[in-house]
Amino acid sequence: MDGNGRWAARRKRPRAIGHRAGARTVNLVIDFCLDRGIGALTLFAFSSENWGRPEDEVGALMKLFVGALDREVGELHRRGVRLRFIGERGRFSSAIRERMAAAEARTAGNTRLMLNVAASYGGRQDIAMAARALAQDVAAGRLDPADIDEAALGARVALADLPAPDLFIRTGGDLRVSNFLLWQLAYTELWFTETLWPELGVEELEQALRVYASRERRFGLTGEQIAGAHAASPTEGPP
Ligand code: FPP
Repeated sequence: MDGNGRWAARRKRPRAIGHRAGARTVNLVIDFCLDRGIGALTLFAFSSENWGRPEDEVGALMKLFVGALDREVGELHRRGVRLRFIGERGRFSSAIRERMAAAEARTAGNTRLMLNVAASYGGRQDIAMAARALAQDVAAGRLDPADIDEAALGARVALADLPAPDLFIRTGGDLRVSNFLLWQLAYTELWFTETLWPELGVEELEQALRVYASRERRFGLTGEQIAGAHAASPTEGPP
């Protein structure tokens, strides 16, 4: 969700105003997913590195998170959205941690949209924590090091219970993934736009889906193999 700060700067307003405008786009994107039957959405709300921003900006973002949790969770719950947070939760205040836990517990039974909010999240940290979990299992005698493979590590990163993301969208014009879901994005289709996050709209989201639909996802195989797999099983993706 990049570009909130620039959106505000163009209007000669403080960066916090840009984040507030960005929160409105969050609602638009959630509505879009609910409308289109998209089952999982992961938003990069705050990176491990964002703690280093000026104190007043971090404070404004924390206030925005508390306000959004207090205001939006009831409506998300009513609409069948399950909310979950990934990242280093221990770095947030107890007031925020409690709200996160309460929102997760309240919406735990919902199945229409899995909404993951990455907060104090870093992809490298995610992989490091998974490595730590593997080491703990080995030390406790629950895991043989010979059994450590992609599946074993993949089962211990964030979002392990979901399919890998199909599409990554970054607004704001920068062409990088900036430490987001590094493990999970291995075969994700990437889509970038110059549009600043507060200005992202439904037409552009539709365009992103059209581009996604036109891509050939080969997962390391050849185009012929993929065509064959589709012919054999038109409703399923390649292995
Ligand atoms: C990046 O833009 C955006 C963020 C660091 C914060 C994103 C947070 C929200 C949209 C608030 C609402 C979110 C939830 C889940 C309630 P930037 O500040 O880096 O923009 P810039 O690159 O133009 O400076």
